[in-house]
Amino acid sequence: MKKVLVVYYTQTGQQKEILENLLKPLAEDTSVELTYHAIQPVEDYPFPWNKTTFFDAFPESFLQIPCELKPVPPKILDLDFDLIILGYQVWYLSPSIPVNSFLKSEEGRRILNGKPVITVIGCRNMWVMAQEKTKRLLRDAGANLVGNIALVDRHINHISLITIVHWMMKGKKDSYLGIFPKPGVSDEDIIHSSRFGIPILKYLKNGDFSSLQSELVRLEAIRIKPLLVFIDKRGNFIFSKWSKKIREKGFPKDPARRPWLKAFNYYLAFALWFIAPVVSILFLILSLPFYFQMRKSIEYYQSTNLK
Ligand SMILES: Cc1cc2nc3c(=O)[nH]c(=O)nc-3n(C[C@H](O)[C@H](O)[C@H](O)COP(=O)(O)O)c2cc1C
Repeated sequence: MKKVLVVYYTQTGQQKEILENLLKPLAEDTSVELTYHAIQPVEDYPFPWNKTTFFDAFPESFLQIPCELKPVPPKILDLDFDLIILGYQVWYLSPSIPVNSFLKSEEGRRILNGKPVITVIGCRNMWVMAQEKTKRLLRDAGANLVGNIALVDRHINHISLITIVHWMMKGKKDSYLGIFPKPGVSDEDIIHSSRFGIPILKYLKNGDFSSLQSELVRLEAIRIKPLLVFIDKRGNFIFSKWSKKIREKGFPKDPARRPWLKAFNYYLAFALWFIAPVVSILFLILSLPFYFQMRKSIEYYQSTNLK
């Protein structure tokens, strides 16, 4: 019997839906035992969000400052798993606070140490730098990252930005104004994610995951868009300045940092709507001579390697 632990966090239920579809081939195999563990913060994050709570989560998300988690049940801590699947979402270009907290916790590190891990990301579209941070956290926990799958909203950046705000603030994954497409990962992509479970099952039975990621890449488990990687990297640089400044002003919920969070809100809106389109056009023109260099970095971000 192969034992698989699925660790995840979700607010909307999307991440759990992705995992259940993706892991169907494993769930249907009698030689595999799947155990789900939902990460639970002691004080959970609100959903739906409002403007204040949404921006207040920024400094701690980006600086990867953990929150307190409810304990992992002893029956999970005591089991010896053959594979761990980590389902996570991105908050502010970083693994979400509950997931980052799990990866840094003593219990999380005990579970992960020495184990093969597959990460499954469900986010809007900007996950590459968050995955680099997750790779580091997994390495520090002694885990062996053997696979990565990223499911995203495939609409253009600005459309997905409008629709995700509607989803996060209203709490419903439906069409904004009846005009815009549904936010988040499409139902079709969620249903078809079960194709990734087939190679996962095969490699789990073999006990050797060394070629899993290249097979997942062939199945289009990862699509890298150089422009989004570029924005992600620039965003990380700018977020590092804002997050440190705001954190200096106070801890979460502290009214002293509200004016700074407001300023960050305005800056972000300006950057996304006015700076990003200009930068995108420049990037598309100027990056052409660097095509081969770009191909190399795409291959790196598709892999489970850590520089
Ligand atoms: C505070 C916050 C920040 C987010 N930041 C990002 C981001 O930087 N990149 C991204 O692609 N998605 C981002 N998202 C979207 C999430 O990754 C995710 O798709 C959404 O929250 C639904 O996930 P869940 O239901 O599994 O919790 C953010 C969501 C929240 C709530």
